[in-house]
Amino acid sequence: MHRFDDRTVLVTGGTGGQGSSHVRAFHAEGANVVIGDIDTARGVALADELGARAVFTRLDVTDEGSWAAAVLTAESAFGTLDVLVNNAGVQNPPAPIETTDPAVWSRVLGINLTGTFLGIRAAAPALRRAAGGVIVNVASTMGLGGTAHYAPYVASKWAVRGLTQTAALELGRDGIRVNTIHPGVIATPFIHEPAAGATTAIADVYSPEPFAVPRLGEPTDVTRLLLFLASAEASFITGSEYVIDGGLLLGPALQRSAA
Ligand SMILES: NC(=O)c1ccc[n+]([C@@H]2O[C@H](COP(=O)([O-])OP(=O)(O)OC[C@H]3O[C@@H](n4cnc5c(N)ncnc54)[C@H](O)[C@@H]3O)[C@@H](O)[C@H]2O)c1
Repeated sequence: MHRFDDRTVLVTGGTGGQGSSHVRAFHAEGANVVIGDIDTARGVALADELGARAVFTRLDVTDEGSWAAAVLTAESAFGTLDVLVNNAGVQNPPAPIETTDPAVWSRVLGINLTGTFLGIRAAAPALRRAAGGVIVNVASTMGLGGTAHYAPYVASKWAVRGLTQTAALELGRDGIRVNTIHPGVIATPFIHEPAAGATTAIADVYSPEPFAVPRLGEPTDVTRLLLFLASAEASFITGSEYVIDGGLLLGPALQRSAA
């Protein structure tokens, strides 16, 4: 008996650094998994690797039609959709607001925010048909405050918080819980993009050494929290936000002890 036997879970961005960790863990815990992503080659390979109880669907979260197809895939392959993880997300190339291209703004908001909205919209009827379910939205610690040169990303992740709380209110009476996770810096391809004001990657600029837990987060750190929130153990938790950052938001540990 596993925690997610007979449950079907759709993970967007399901082939990425964190998404593939989530998919593997849900599958190992007995779930049927639907891997949604724009990267077909990686999605097919992951579904093949997992074998039974795993399917890939090409899902562009900005596209309403592909959301309908993903939900249909889940229900026709496995009978129900029980859990949606809105994990797909992109970063903007760092730039001050004044020189941020409006096309970049639209793209980042389109994937991170509108994609999450479209996902809730498409999944809610299916979760209701399953007599209840769970939605977890992946935001970021950058959605909890300002970060210079990352306006599109910050704004998109900040807005996901309000969307989560509103969805929790609208869907709670149907037995559907909706929560947000705010990861800190997690070691995935995402942090190999260039950092603001630097030609090197975020991972090369960012050192976790001063922080309370002096290491980068691993995708599995986020996965463990996600599985808890998606499980029956979290049945009284909705509209909530969970920071998982190793103490990053607390500030440097040494500075605090010296103060
Ligand atoms: N890595 C970090 O430090 C960090 C920190 C905080 C939050 N996050 C968030 O965690 C989530 C997962 O990021 P990750 O670290 O695994 O990055 P990643 O780049 O490894 O994975 C992102 C995935 O999203 C997919 N994707 C991109 N556009 C898509 C679209 N339009 N439709 C469907 N899928 C699409 C990509 O193909 C990729 O598989 C993102 O929402 C990201 O904003 C990451």
